[in-house]
Formats: sequence, C-alpha cells, structure tokens
Amino acid sequence: MRQTAALSAPQVPAEPRHADYPPLVLPLRSRRLVVRDFTSGDLGALHAYAERREVTKHLLWGPNTVEQSRATLAEFLNQQQVSPRLRYDLALALPGGKAIGGVSLHLDDLRLGNAEIGYVLHSDYWGGGFVSEAVRLVAEAAFSQWPLNRLWARCVSDNKASRRVLERMGMRHEGTLLKAERLDDRWHDVLIYALLADEWQASDG
Ligand SMILES: CC(C)(COP(=O)(O)OP(=O)(O)OC[C@H]1O[C@@H](n2cnc3c(N)ncnc32)[C@H](O)[C@@H]1OP(=O)(O)O)[C@@H](O)C(=O)NCCC(=O)NCCS
Repeated sequence: MRQTAALSAPQVPAEPRHADYPPLVLPLRSRRLVVRDFTSGDLGALHAYAERREVTKHLLWGPNTVEQSRATLAEFLNQQQVSPRLRYDLALALPGGKAIGGVSLHLDDLRLGNAEIGYVLHSDYWGGGFVSEAVRLVAEAAFSQWPLNRLWARCVSDNKASRRVLERMGMRHEGTLLKAERLDDRWHDVLIYALLADEWQASDG
C-alpha cells in the first residue's frame, strides 16, 4: 500500500537515541576563552564568583558558602563520569587556565533534541563580551556535534545583561511566564528564549 504524506513517519525518533549524542568534544576555544570541564583545582575560582551577591541575585542558588561551592564542584566532577552524559556544567576560563565563570548545557529531551543553556560570570569580568563569546562556542559545538533541534534558555525579566546575551546570539523571546520565579521574597516573571537548528544555520552560526 502506498503511504500518503499524512501517514509517513514523523522525523522525531520514537525513542531517545543516546548514540546520537556522543560526549561533546572539549575544550572549546576562542582567542580569548577556553570552555572546558571543571577540575578539582577550580574550587577557589568557582567560589570567587559563587560567593558574590551581585553575581547570584538573579539565580536560584547562592551566594555560596565555601561548603556549597565544594558540593557544586563535586557534582560537576561527577557529571563527567556519567554515561550517557546529559549535563554539561563547564568552566569558562581564560587561555592561561583561570576559571572566571561557567556555562551549562543540559540535554533535557533527547527525543526532541532540546537542550537548555545557562551561564554565570565573575563580576570583575562583566561587560567584556566574554559570555556572549562563550555561549556561541557552546551553541556551535552543540548544533554541530549533536542532532539538536532546539536550544533554549530562561532568565528573569529584570536580568537585562542576560537578556542581551540571549538576544545577541539570535535567540527569540518566545514568551513570558508570569510570576514564575520567587527570588528575594518577590515574584519574578521568567522569559523563555530559544533558537532552532535551522535558525542557527541560517544565522551564519
Ligand atoms: C549575564 C552575564 C552572564 C553577562 O555576562 P557578560 O560577559 O558581562 O555579557 P556581555 O559582556 O556579553 O554583555 C552582554 C550585554 O549585557 C550588557 N551588560 C553586561 N553587564 C551588564 C550589567 N551589569 N547591567 C546591564 N547590562 C549589562 C552588555 O553591555 C551587553 O549589552 P549590549 O549587547 O547592548 O552591548 C553576567 O552579567 C552575569 O554573570 N550575571 C550574573 C549571573 C546571571 O545572571 N546569569 C544568567 C542567568 S539567566
């Protein structure tokens, strides 16, 4: 029997295919930055930004005690041993090796090729374009190494710097979740941004 277009198989695989998502090839490099796995020697650098109130005020964690930073780093190191690896919490480092922030990429739906991106930077380095550069490196790796369909991010509406990072990389504001986050005893609207694989390719990726 001839299959009609309406009956032809959808492009979405029925089951997640871990083999399609091999470990990301790291480190990623630009002239000014290296995006790499955290190491046990990064505790001081991680805590240096994680303990700062101005850095974590829009985040769901922090400011950290040193014990909290130690536990966070232990979790990041554990992720590196998990197979298949679905969570990448990576160090954003200077070429000399010093970590000045982090970039996360969490594969949250393999079947649909969805991944969430996030980032944080030591406030001494804000405004220098470091995170915009780092998220482009990570997006390029994710779209070129995996059959990713949708890269997405969320940020609270009053986090102007984060909104600019997402807009600069060509992400679309898809919608706003009203009063979807509670920080500092106050409700916050949460903005959802996304970039589809074909949009990334069309944008000169
Ligand atoms: C959001 C953050 C990662 C931006 O990093 P960054 O490297 O300073 O970003 P960039 O230098 O690439 O700048 C991106 C844009 O934000 C603007 N910006 C940077 N710091 C800013 C600030 N403190 N206030 C307002 N705008 C700011 C820049 O001017 C730039 O805007 P432009 O495109 O109009 O020139 C950084 O501010 C940070 O770590 N904040 C705390 C953690 C956080 O909020 N993470 C995101 C959670 S969703």
